[in-house]
Amino acid sequence: MKRREFLSRSATAGLSLGVLSACGGGGSSSPDGGKPGTDNPGTGNPGQPGPTPNAPEMPSYGGPDPFQHGVASGDPLANQVILWTRLTAAGLDEIPVIVEVARDATFATPVYQGVGYARSQNDFTVKLDPLLPEPETTYFYRFRSLGFTSPVGRTRTAPAPGAQVDHLRLAVVSCSNLPYGWFNAYARVARRADLDAVLHLGDYIYEYAQGEYNDADLAGPRPVDPPHEIITLDDYRRRYACYRRDPDLQECHRQHPFICVWDDHEIANDAWMDGAENHNEGEGDFADRKRAAVRAYYEWMPIRMGFPDRDMRIYRRFDYGDLLTLVMLDTRLIGRDPQVDSPSEARDRNRQLLGQDQRQWLFEQLEYSRGRGARWHVIGQQVMLSPLTLGTLPDTPNWDLGGGAQLNYDQWDGYQTSRRALLGRIEAMALDNTVVLTGDIHSSWAMDVSADPGNPLVYNRFTGQGSLAVEFVTPAVTSPAAPSKALSDLARAALVPLNPHLKWVDLFHRGYLVLDLTAEHCKADWFHLNTVSEPDDSEFFARSYLTRDGQNHVERASQPSAPKTAAPPLAPATQGIKP
Ligand SMILES: [Fe+2]
Repeated sequence: MKRREFLSRSATAGLSLGVLSACGGGGSSSPDGGKPGTDNPGTGNPGQPGPTPNAPEMPSYGGPDPFQHGVASGDPLANQVILWTRLTAAGLDEIPVIVEVARDATFATPVYQGVGYARSQNDFTVKLDPLLPEPETTYFYRFRSLGFTSPVGRTRTAPAPGAQVDHLRLAVVSCSNLPYGWFNAYARVARRADLDAVLHLGDYIYEYAQGEYNDADLAGPRPVDPPHEIITLDDYRRRYACYRRDPDLQECHRQHPFICVWDDHEIANDAWMDGAENHNEGEGDFADRKRAAVRAYYEWMPIRMGFPDRDMRIYRRFDYGDLLTLVMLDTRLIGRDPQVDSPSEARDRNRQLLGQDQRQWLFEQLEYSRGRGARWHVIGQQVMLSPLTLGTLPDTPNWDLGGGAQLNYDQWDGYQTSRRALLGRIEAMALDNTVVLTGDIHSSWAMDVSADPGNPLVYNRFTGQGSLAVEFVTPAVTSPAAPSKALSDLARAALVPLNPHLKWVDLFHRGYLVLDLTAEHCKADWFHLNTVSEPDDSEFFARSYLTRDGQNHVERASQPSAPKTAAPPLAPATQGIKP
């Protein structure tokens, strides 16, 4: 079922679930090593700690502040983190950029200085991947070029893989469609001083033309560039540049390291390996479009390219001491077969969501994580893993309608062999403490993950017994779901009885999720916004669910987690950005 069909069919079913398809509208970052890259597009320039380099010769320049798109950091390892900026200086190329890293925001205690270059071949984006002295440490950084100094950024290295870690906290975001609202969620996340990192699960940009998938009332204050649907490399670059002018997004990047994966809209709606719902022959070869989108992504996002000759391979791993192994997956480009329309097709044994290589890699990461004694195994990915059905029949793999009629075949429901393989592996390993983080669907969900939630012999909806893992879904930063809270409540009342594993869903509010990890629990706190129709500083605590060590099912918590102790100070406000 295409997402738009899903929308209309859901509406027909009286569930107002069409809104769910609105998405349609130090260790190592990989087991292979995650080596610092070479000077390829979007790849960090490896840096070495040491003496201050000779100051490069700067070209003469009389223009405005070239740091128009802020600063960013990402993919933290124990002794490395990607640092990013972009220069806007008309008429210049090969522009030297000095980067400085220090333990304090005044740069009285420098630990690194290096030089990168802004080149037209990388759309004047600059990435460095410096070696930093201490794991689990907050650093401040800034860039200097052409007589200007960038805003001061703040970042944090990961704990060493074997370190004992008592407490981690991550913000989880997705689906930030600029013309659909103000980035109030990014502004709120930016000011949380106790985060170790921000996970962005995709739909960082949207590909649509001006006016095609937006809040019409915001067409004036929130226009997109270019105004047409983005297809070429220049288009994608311009769209990232447009988004990265947003001050709330800049501030969020400035304060926290990001760990990102793409979803479909970084390329085109409902993308799969060789095509997309929102791509037609008149728009050229999809392979060319995908290549352009991926190149612009690596240029503009603070992400480490682990394999410069295999840029589609975005899936990677992060080790946060003995508390967390974080695996980031690609469910779009590397191995997804096309979406289908029926339960029988969704059960095709040959269909794949991850592709053979990534699936095998994922299984190896789960083995690795358990082998090294990590408490939590967290999988960051895009589309909902748990089934979403209009029926509660036990799952019978040889029956077309076993398990009920699925509502959205763009998610794992459309790739049931892939889901069986993953859950079967977790069950065969008797692996405790797997947590799945999901975006894409513009709504908030807390779920147990069972191989057969409709079968009381397999899963007990009242105790959670039989659940293999848990899944937390983060709402959108701006993209819409249900048009009203009343419709959201109606849909929840219909869905929860039909989906025994579903404990809570909110289809109306935008916001974000905070994941709090200790040895005892992995807890999701949802924070929602009152509005994205105008700049607004408010948020409210919506709901909490946690899973306890060894329990593998969710239970409701009454309050959000208390702030982490001794949070490092935020980077001070700076005025280096021209409006
Ligand atoms: Fe989305």
